[in-house]
Amino acid sequence: MKRESFGSRFGALVAMAGSAVGLGNLWRFPYLVGENGGAAFIIVYILLSFLICLPIFVSEFVIGRRSQKNAYAAFRDLSGGSAWKWIGLVTVIVPLIVLSYYSVIGGWSVEYLLKSITFSFTGTDTLSSMKTMFTDFVSSPWIPLLMHTVFMLVSTLIVMVGIKDGIEKFSKVMMPLLFFMVLAIAIYSLTLPGAGKGVDYLFNPDFSKIDGKACAAALGQAFFSLSLGFGTILTYASYVDKKENIMFQSTATAVSDLMFALIAGVAIMPAVFAFGLNPQSGPGLVFETLPYVFSQMPAGGIVAIVFFVALLVAALTSSISMLEVAVAYLVEEKKFSRTGACAVLFAVCWVVGALCSLSFGPLADFKIAGRSIFDFFDNLSSNVLMTLGSLMTVLFVGWRLKKTDIYDEFTNGGTLSANAKIFGVLWFLIRYVCPLAIIAIFVSGLI
Ligand code: PHE
Repeated sequence: MKRESFGSRFGALVAMAGSAVGLGNLWRFPYLVGENGGAAFIIVYILLSFLICLPIFVSEFVIGRRSQKNAYAAFRDLSGGSAWKWIGLVTVIVPLIVLSYYSVIGGWSVEYLLKSITFSFTGTDTLSSMKTMFTDFVSSPWIPLLMHTVFMLVSTLIVMVGIKDGIEKFSKVMMPLLFFMVLAIAIYSLTLPGAGKGVDYLFNPDFSKIDGKACAAALGQAFFSLSLGFGTILTYASYVDKKENIMFQSTATAVSDLMFALIAGVAIMPAVFAFGLNPQSGPGLVFETLPYVFSQMPAGGIVAIVFFVALLVAALTSSISMLEVAVAYLVEEKKFSRTGACAVLFAVCWVVGALCSLSFGPLADFKIAGRSIFDFFDNLSSNVLMTLGSLMTVLFVGWRLKKTDIYDEFTNGGTLSANAKIFGVLWFLIRYVCPLAIIAIFVSGLI
């Protein structure tokens, strides 16, 4: 059977951008910026994104498109069947873990969208009652489970339809919509009286806050935001046409991801400050502070709906990319049908996600290594496994694969002269700078 692929350049681009733009942009980036020195953090983030993450992105792209295989087989075949395939297998498993708890938050977005459609925030006029609403919701057993099921089901159905008609079509319609929704909220947010303080908070550089921890936070966020080290970019790249320009596609994805993060910051912070609040970190920002802000602002009911639709869409275009990694593996290596693979993976992620969901309520006291189930998986995958995955990817491309093969893939057989010109720099970054920087920043984040 012929392997599926993306139908167009735009389709491939929006699918990758869809994977990159997610909960990481809409809620994690804005508060990390605020906590870590505003514009100073943004500068560090941009530098790390382009000097470290872009070469890793290109590396994943090269592995995927060269092999035209799923993540496991890509590592196996390109290395001539060596132990590298186990790294490939890790990159198949990690996104499943992330998807499981990502789907729980996706479920919260579904619930909050429903709440905003029924105008449940209007009339809840103190921040503390908004907090109670959220705590009551997440700690109750059934509704979060139901919402997790809905979110997981929708993700699975999109992936089940296939690459071109499912993932690509969904992303083509949703990504432009997402962009306009977030942009509209940003513009509205800037017009609120007192918005300037939020802009200051985001963009006033405070270099004294830049230390090892801030750099580690920036790098971790950039990895997560660009979906690196998870086999997702690799898998999507394996569906990209051989004629496409890897450098162009990678840069376009990284730039759109950054734009989304910045626009999300401008959508959220000025509004929060305009109502005299301080941004909380973590889920509290999106599920407590913002609903309160929406309940207070003119036309807030509508803004709330637009915001939670955007959050849900952003989460969905990311979750489908995580699911596709393992679907491709099961279909190609274990000879599952696409439907069968989706059904099995739905069941796996549903169970793990259910445990994560319950860890906010009935299972709150159950701890693994001192953390709740949700925090344990989040920490393990986004701090440890993702960094490891990215490190292995650059080591694989920089030290295991043949330089001539990478050159060939990166320049489309030598026909892309601009790529040929920058190859030397890119190679140096992949081989030396990225691995050392990843290790250094990872270690400095620990101390
Ligand atoms: N990049 C996504 C976000 O910012 C998360 C993600 C991670 C998606 C890994 C796919 C793979 O939310």
